[in-house]
Parts: sequence; C-alpha cells; structure tokens
Amino acid sequence: MAASHALLWISKPSGISSLAISFVTFILLVGMTSAQLSANFYASSCPNVLTTIRTAVNSAVSKEARMGASLLRLHFHDCFVNGCDASVLLDDTANFTGEKTAGPNNNSLRGFEVIDSIKSQLETSCPGVVSCADILTVAARDGVAALGGPSWNILLGRRDSTTASLSAANSNIPGPGLNLNALISAFANKGFTATEMVALSGGHTIGQARCLLFRNRIYNEANINASFAAAVKANCPRSGGDNNLSPLDTTSPISFDNAYFRNLQTQKGLLHSDQQLFSGGSTNAQVNTYSSNSATFFTDFANAMVKMDNLSPLTGTNGQIRTNCRKTN
Ligand code: HEM
Ligand SMILES: *[C@@H]1O[C@H](CO)[C@@H](O)[C@H](O)[C@H]1NC(C)=O
Ligand SMILES: *[C@@H]1O[C@H](CO)[C@@H](O)[C@H](O)[C@H]1NC(C)=O
Ligand SMILES: *[C@@H]1O[C@H](CO)[C@@H](O)[C@H](O)[C@H]1NC(C)=O
Repeated sequence: MAASHALLWISKPSGISSLAISFVTFILLVGMTSAQLSANFYASSCPNVLTTIRTAVNSAVSKEARMGASLLRLHFHDCFVNGCDASVLLDDTANFTGEKTAGPNNNSLRGFEVIDSIKSQLETSCPGVVSCADILTVAARDGVAALGGPSWNILLGRRDSTTASLSAANSNIPGPGLNLNALISAFANKGFTATEMVALSGGHTIGQARCLLFRNRIYNEANINASFAAAVKANCPRSGGDNNLSPLDTTSPISFDNAYFRNLQTQKGLLHSDQQLFSGGSTNAQVNTYSSNSATFFTDFANAMVKMDNLSPLTGTNGQIRTNCRKTN
C-alpha cells in the first residue's frame, strides 16, 4: 500500500501531489453539478417569485405574442456566453462593454423591458433577493408555456455576473450561415449532443427573423420550396429591407408546436441553419420523428432546456444579486 502510493507519488510530474489532484477533481465536480441550485431557494426569502414572474410574462405575451419567443432567445444568448449569469442584460457604458452589440445580439435581442419590469416588482416585494439570472431563466420557460409549449422544473439560486464578454458572445453563439457539422460543434462546445441541438433548434417554432439573415437562402439556395421562397421574397427584397421580419415557422409562428419540423420536411426552413437539420444528413431521422410526434419533441426540448438552464451558474458567494439588471451594483 505504502509502496504503491510512493510509486504513484514519484511517477507524477514534480510539484503536483495526488492530494492536489484529488482536490482539483473535487472542485471541478462541485462546479459541474451546480450543487448550490435548489428547487426551493426562494421559498422563505421570496415565496411569490414564481407567481410574479409568470403573471408578468403572461401579460407581456398577451400584449404581444412574439415576446414569448424573444424571452426564450434572450435566455439562450445569456447561457451560451459564460453561463446563465445575466451577463447579456448589462448595458454598455462609457466604462463598460457588454454583450448587447455583439453580432448575434445587436438590433436583434428583445425583452429587456419585460425583465426590468419583473425585477422592479421583485425589488419591491423582496429587495435584494432574486437574481436577474433566475428571473430570465424562469421567464424563458414561462414564455414557452404561454405559447402552448411544454414546461419544466427549474432549480434556483443563480447569481448575477459583474462581467460580460463581447468576444465570447461573438464566438459562442451559432450563426444562421452554419452547416450541420458546425451547428453540432457549436452545441458540443457547450456540452450538448447533436440530438439536443436538434431539439433546441425547435425553439424556432416561434418568433421572427430579419431579412438580412435569410436573404441569401431565399435567393440563392436550391433546397427551398419555390412557393415558400416567393412568398418570403415579397417582404425581403434583393436589396434594402434588411430589418423586415418573417416568421421562423411559416405555418404557426405564435404557437409552440412541432410545425417547425414539418416545415423542414417540405423545405420551408427560413434560415440556412434550419434547413441544414433536414438536408440528407445525420439529423434527418430525428426531424421525421419530431414531425410526427410532438410529445417526443416536447419532452426532448424540455430536458435540453433544463440542461441549458444549468450551464455554469454563479452560486454561493460568487457574483452578486443586481439591484438593476442593466448594471452591476
Ligand atoms: C441552432 C443554432 C441557432 C441559430 C443559427 C439561430 C439563429 C437565429 C437567428 C439568425 C434568429 C433571427 C435573429 C434576427 O432576426 O435578428 C433567431 C431567432 C430566434 N431564435 Fe435562434 N438560433 C439557433 C438556436 C436557437 C435556440 C437553441 C433557441 C432557443 C431554444 C433559439 C430561439 C430563437 C427564437 C425564439 C428566435 C425568435 C426571437 C424573436 O422573435 O424575438 N434559437 N435565431
Ligand atoms: C466610470 O468610472 C468612473 C470612475 O472610474 C466613475 O466615476 C464613473 O461614474 C463611471 N462612468 C460610468 C458611465 O459608469
Ligand atoms: C449596432 O447597431 C447600431 C445601429 O442600431 C450601429 O450603429 C452599430 O454600429 C452596431 N454595432 C455593431 C458593433 O455592429
Ligand atoms: C411547396 O409548398 C406549396 C405550398 O405549401 C405546396 O403546395 C407545394 O406542393 C410545395 N412544393 C414542393 C415541390 O414540395
């Protein structure tokens, strides 16, 4: 025992003890399992938190259905950039560069006012208690549910970042020009399987996209339904109209259902990246499954969202509880 331990010891690079390695492994495991998030985190400190968020989201979605989509995307763009830490909500100032002007975000992200309004209600009922990161995580779920999608359980206790990363926002969020392999890699970089990537892409069953992001597809790509392309071109000219909107799901853009996948089967994906999921590659079969079985899509989407919700949260004494989601305390 002692001899084999001694052998192990001397066979390691100098200066690194097995105790140090065990300690590092332990810290990594603790970090990966997000040990401090819990279902009842605000049970005594802010018992009305979930009702407050759900009521505000339902009201925002009933005023404008698209808001359910915008909140979902805002959360995705938060979590893929150094974890779900509300970094995406920080405004640029003279002294601070946030993520709002990153390519995937500039003139594109929406829903900040809804989060501000929820935050100010919660600062009245439970001052200094509920993080912006938790508000955004719950609001995204409630936005999906408000449009008829699945719901899922969320562990709470995320804290808010004091930093943001423009460069990570530019490099970690996948763009609409990507091919299937690049989409798979972008999600693999965040720990998701190709199957989870396809399920999460079903988020495009709600919401809108701007002409400049699908112009090349509708004018230059061959794997597109001709009458669909013609209809979309009517609102997205060859030049000009960059910000004109078209629904990502041409059949039911304010209903969270599986129509997005059926559209892919008939070559009516709006973005190049959408149609990549059904272009003869490894994900075709999964698109077929979701097209005929919305319950399977809902279950897979919800499970993948739980995984997204838990990407690298700040917990314990890390980060802070912002008073105003747009700036650090
Ligand atoms: C697979 C890689 C993805 C790519 C390439 C992508 C790309 C895009 C693009 C280009 C837009 C339109 C932005 C604009 O017009 O300014 C968009 C919108 C949207 N995306 Fe994605 N996205 C991806 C994955 C996801 C995921 C995982 C979700 C959520 C689970 C999501 C949810 C949304 C929603 C809901 C909208 C509409 C937002 C609104 O109407 O305000 N996307 N996406
Ligand atoms: C910038 O930083 C200085 C101190 O370094 C501070 O006084 C000032 O309020 C900051 N300005 C903004 C816009 O945050
Ligand atoms: C963001 O959009 C604004 C127009 O609203 C533009 O003036 C600015 O240059 C854009 N920023 C970046 C970094 O692209
Ligand atoms: C394209 O879509 C139209 C309208 O949904 C449909 O009638 C037509 O059959 C489709 N064309 C092809 C080639 O799939």
